[in-house]
Amino acid sequence: MEAIASFAFENGLTLILLSIFSTFFLFAFFLKKPKKVFDLPPSPPSLPIIGHLHLLFTTSLHKSFQKISFKYGPLLHLRIFNVRILLVSSASLAYEIFKDHDMSISSHGPIGIDECIVFGSYGFLKAPYGDYWKFMKKTITTKVLGPQALERSRDLRAVEIERFYRDLLDKAMKKESVEIGEEALRLVSSVLGKMSLGRSFSEEERVSEFSGEIAALTQKIFLQQVLRKPLEKIGLSPPFKKEVMDASYKFEELLEKIIVKYEEEKDQGSELMDTLLAACGNEDAEYKICRSHIKALLAELFFGAGDTSSKSTQWAMAEILNNHKIFERLREEIDSVVGKTRLIQEIDLPKLPYLQAVIKESLRLHPPGALLPREFEQGCKIGGFYIPKGTSLVINAYAVMRDADSWKDPDEFKPERFLGEEDARREHVLNYLPFGAGRRGCPGSNIAYILGGITIGVMVQCFDWKIEGDKVNMEEATGRALLALAHPLNCTPLPRTLNLLPSSL
Ligand code: HEM
Repeated sequence: MEAIASFAFENGLTLILLSIFSTFFLFAFFLKKPKKVFDLPPSPPSLPIIGHLHLLFTTSLHKSFQKISFKYGPLLHLRIFNVRILLVSSASLAYEIFKDHDMSISSHGPIGIDECIVFGSYGFLKAPYGDYWKFMKKTITTKVLGPQALERSRDLRAVEIERFYRDLLDKAMKKESVEIGEEALRLVSSVLGKMSLGRSFSEEERVSEFSGEIAALTQKIFLQQVLRKPLEKIGLSPPFKKEVMDASYKFEELLEKIIVKYEEEKDQGSELMDTLLAACGNEDAEYKICRSHIKALLAELFFGAGDTSSKSTQWAMAEILNNHKIFERLREEIDSVVGKTRLIQEIDLPKLPYLQAVIKESLRLHPPGALLPREFEQGCKIGGFYIPKGTSLVINAYAVMRDADSWKDPDEFKPERFLGEEDARREHVLNYLPFGAGRRGCPGSNIAYILGGITIGVMVQCFDWKIEGDKVNMEEATGRALLALAHPLNCTPLPRTLNLLPSSL
């Protein structure tokens, strides 16, 4: 998610802008003598002032980083102006970092715009590892995303999954095409609305639209993050602040209305909201929060869940539609476990190992959060080199999950690799990172697997699919914060002959 394209400078305009500012940085930073010499990891040749910035423009950021690491090695020290970055691209180094230094990297780095509703100073994503983060993590785990909370909310999701099936069926009957990402986003938003607020959102509430607006601005928010300190030093304000804040204020206003509605209609019953509102302004609370914290948490949950889930569903479906044998094997598995008289349900998922393997393999090859940005809060030794405190860390999850030293045929879509014992071993060695890892790893991975499995399950169980042309175009989009298909997946559902009993719906 954050995806995590934390240093995503991918357009020319940005480069020009950065180059102008670089003159100032020359005087501000580079004419100073370094105070201390460290045994830093190797570094590719760099340019004066901009450092390695020029190497990051060849293609998408995760691919540019991958290209650099192919050429210079899996542990590199990069510099962009005065920002030091440790780039990690191998499974063994990622393992060493998460196993031995998770505490030192338990922050997602500096904040770009304090007031922004997502990635701002009231939020959870950028909160330092401390009392506030611990309180919120405990609250979202126990009330919404942990295994027991998920069990309690299963019936809520079943209603939304049936609605998802009926919407697709309706379009299939009218021979309309669907945009898979949009359908998945609608499902995730309504499920999350029910799980966190006790109700799904009305059309006018446009939660996924506002969350999407912020998602589209993610690169600018991150650019703000990198430029903030250097610009402040020379008295300039960050370049995209107004654009970002316009979107942020709209989202915040909507969330305020949603919270007021919750307070007025007391009977909606959401454990999450009741806990947050009880802690709001309460001196005796375990951690006293304010209303801005509640809005930021909701915004980040919708933002964190929506785009990632929608992108991962598109990738998985694209792989399945491009490979008829996989589609057939999935359908056979679902038919043999679920039958043809009822709709697939969440409780079927543990009995559908091949479906789970397809979801995992798709996340391996196409992780929406391709880059994991962190910051070293303490200096430490990695791979025999010293990493100073304050260094930014970028773990290239995309490269780690295509590392030929730990994956056979790394660029091929082979779900079988996630079947059986090999699967358990794999997760143990931390070369599988679609949800990050450690303390700051994604708290939504369980619900993401459930929603991914059930969405793909319904689409394979109940429909055949017609695509335009022979194959889905798997080209990756460039210039996006999340790893996305360059061309949204549009296809037409054709209803399959099933005898779903009304009682099963
Ligand atoms: C396929 C779906 C998803 C993917 C690929 C994904 C991926 C990620 C990644 C890579 C991170 C950063 C982890 C790290 O730094 O190690 C993250 C963090 C996070 N994700 Fe997800 N995510 C998904 C779904 C969700 C869902 C459904 C939710 C909530 C309902 C969610 C909420 C969060 C939150 C709150 C964080 C920040 C955690 C922290 O800062 O402590 N994500 N996610």
